[in-house]
This record gives sequence, C-alpha cells and structure tokens, in this order.
Amino acid sequence: MKRFVPLTILLFSMLIYMSTAAHAATPFPTNGGEWRDTGNARINCHGGSILKVGKRYYWYGEHRAGLDADHQKGVACYSSTDLRNWRNEGIVLPVTADTTSHLQQGCKIERPKVIYCPRTGKYMLWFHLELKGRGYEAAYCGVAESRKPAGPFTLLRTGRVNPGIYPLNFDPRYKGHDWSAVADKWWTPEWMEAVKQGVYNERDRLEGQMSRDMTLFVDDNGQAYHIYSSEENLTLQIAELTPDYSRHSGRYIRLFPGGHNEAPVLFKNQGRYWMICSGCTGWAPNKARLFSAADIMGEWEEHPSPFVGEGSETTFQSQGAFPLKVGKDIYFVADEWRPKCLADSRYKIFRIEFRNGMPHIENRTPEIRP
Ligand code: GAL
Repeated sequence: MKRFVPLTILLFSMLIYMSTAAHAATPFPTNGGEWRDTGNARINCHGGSILKVGKRYYWYGEHRAGLDADHQKGVACYSSTDLRNWRNEGIVLPVTADTTSHLQQGCKIERPKVIYCPRTGKYMLWFHLELKGRGYEAAYCGVAESRKPAGPFTLLRTGRVNPGIYPLNFDPRYKGHDWSAVADKWWTPEWMEAVKQGVYNERDRLEGQMSRDMTLFVDDNGQAYHIYSSEENLTLQIAELTPDYSRHSGRYIRLFPGGHNEAPVLFKNQGRYWMICSGCTGWAPNKARLFSAADIMGEWEEHPSPFVGEGSETTFQSQGAFPLKVGKDIYFVADEWRPKCLADSRYKIFRIEFRNGMPHIENRTPEIRP
C-alpha cells in the first residue's frame, strides 16, 4: 500500500507525457494534404459529418471510387479521440449486389450525416441517394439506423420528401396553379417568377420533393431538421423531422427560391442560425453564400460571403461538407473535389471566427486540440 501512491503518480505523469508526445508527434493534418488513417491508408470519407460520442469523434462520409476500389462501397466511418489519428471503422452502410435494392452497387450515396436520438438510443444516418443508372434524377434521401455509432446501419427507407404536402410558406394563391406555359422556358423572367412561386414544388407534389445536397441539424431542444437542395437544385427546403428522427413530420419551408444553393452547412451561434452554402457548379468550387435567421423555420436573410482574402472567390478551392464544434469553437469542414479520381479529393478545415457578430473565415489550417 505504501508504494501505491508514488506508483500512481508515476503512471499518471507517464500518461500525461505520452499524450503530449502523441500530440507533438502528430501534427494536425494540413488542409489539402493526403490525410491518412492509423493504418497509413488514405482516408476516404467525403461530403460527410462528424459526431462526438463520449470522448470519441466518429467521422462518416462518402467512400469514393478510384484509390482502393473501382466503385463506391457505401458510407465510410473513421473514429478518433484527437481529430488527427483516425482509425478506419470500415463501411457502415454498404452498397449491395441485390439488384432489387435501392442501394444496389452503382447507386450514388452522397453527403451522409449521422445524428443521435436520445429518445430511441439510436444513431440515425441520412444521406442523398441516386439510383443506379439514373444519373441524378431520382433525388432521393435515404434513412438508416444503428444502435452503435460504428454501425452496421440498417436501411429504413428511401424516397422523396413530404409527398402530397405543401410547404408552410407557400402562397395559397398558387396552390394547384397551371404553369405549363412557362415550365420549360428556363431562365426567362416568366420562368423565374414561376420558380419563385413554386412551379417545381407543385410539379413534385405527388411524388414528393426532390432532395439532393443535404445536411441535418439538431436544435438545443432536440428538434431535428433535414436541410436540402430541392426543386431542381434551385430552392432550399428545411423540413422538420419526427421526434425519433426517422421521417419527416410534414412541416417544411422553402428558402431562397431560384437561389441555386447547394452543400448546406448549418450551425447555431449565440441563439442565431447560420447557414453557409455553395453555388451550383458541380465539382468545381465557387463563391460561398451566407444566410442567417433568428428562427430556423422563419425568415432567413442573406449576407456577404464570410470567406476573406485570396482564394475566397472559390471558398479556398473547396465546398462545404459540415460544421464541427470543438469546445466553443466552430469549424467549417470542406472537400476539395477531384472529379477525375473522387477518392483523391482532399479535406480542408477552416475556423469560423465571429467578428462583430458575423462569421469570418480565413485560409489557414487550424490546430485543433479537443
Ligand atoms: C455538387 C454536389 C456534390 C455532388 C456533385 C455532383 O454540386 O455538391 O455533392 O452531387 O455536385 O456533380
């Protein structure tokens, strides 16, 4: 017993030394570099999200073809306690050889997000799904669940959003309006007016709303939302989820009709909702847009892009994937897409500072210490 105290102190000091040494030995990964996992393989986890469970961060993303496989394998997962040493947890939602499944190999799974539902004790995975051989026309979302953060996840459903339901902020004068005279006159003023009044929302009423680039957001009161590019990528929608986060509640709004916003990254700071989006130029980077609101289902306003300095016109050669909160700090995690070999796409993290109450983002690799 006498030797117990010094031994504990010794062990404790060694632990502290080791953890400091580990930090010193592993610098924070450089923006745009080749990020590797603890097995020294390239991390293949794009357009995703990070969820903290206890002390461990789980990073989910698109597994992409080109480096370790010639097709997309499904949703990848890595985990880490320090955000720099990432252990490969494998594919947590795989594509399948089953030709009757919507997850048939050859489908596209994009922008997977995982949130935890305390009511059910389940991890809920939502993603953008495109069916095999149909390009981007399905515009589905998929929902899967698991009891454990590292999966495996079981697919619950796939499809469009809120079939048969009008958004809360739809002008009742245009319900059921016949837009056939202008529907294919793209980019004319009449067509733009039709887009504003919901021509594609109306067109998709029965099948449900299109859902492509997407994110999830869980508010402080536990209410979760699905935010996605809809209506031919022209208009954003924010849809409330049910308390078990497994489906839409039916309440949703349209945002910035005709604004062409993609890659939504939504976070809350001091009671205000902020959303950073990209424009619509496929894999090529473009200038980010910034929006904010006092009420997530209320009025949103637009602000100048928060990215400043050289390269801000292309969001520093990247497109947003998700916000990452570490302590009080919020980071913007993004992909630098490499369409010739999507698996070779790079990761970038930028700290979101707040200056005079407004987000401010500079082109600097952060040094994050959880
Ligand atoms: C981007 C979108 C990506 C992917 C890509 C396909 O605009 O953000 O998630 O869908 O288009 O071209």
